[in-house]
Amino acid sequence: MKKDLKSCELKEFLSVGEVAARSGVAISALHFYETKGFIVSLRNEQNQRRYPRGMLRIISFIKVAQNLGFSLEEIHQMLKTLPDQKKPSDQDWQVLSKKWKQELALKIKKMTRLKDQLDKCIGCGCLSLKECPLRNPDDKLAKKGAGAHLI
Ligand code: FES
Repeated sequence: MKKDLKSCELKEFLSVGEVAARSGVAISALHFYETKGFIVSLRNEQNQRRYPRGMLRIISFIKVAQNLGFSLEEIHQMLKTLPDQKKPSDQDWQVLSKKWKQELALKIKKMTRLKDQLDKCIGCGCLSLKECPLRNPDDKLAKKGAGAHLI
């Protein structure tokens, strides 16, 4: 989204330096987020980026999600659930929060299983594709019995 701004609207928007200072995120990271479509800016008459104030919340969301171990692709998918052209409402954030909780529950379940499997593997170290649950988690083909199943 790149639009021109009239100077009278500028007080509603922040420069990239202001966003960096307020969010604690480097300007290069802000440019990266924008390139990937995570955040959007408008352009003023000097063709400088100006960010709607609501982008600060989006940036905070990205940082928290990264700290929780979500990949950039997962974060991107979550952000796509927010409205494109308007400030997210409380309800929009609630929907996103619910989705986030579900994703976290799945990650916790997976990590707990991994932790339990790790206990069995400590001291073994074989990392066998055939035997090791760490090396080959969710081995669905093993449930079909011995032998080649994909040929
Ligand atoms: S390392 Fe041997 S079973 Fe996992």
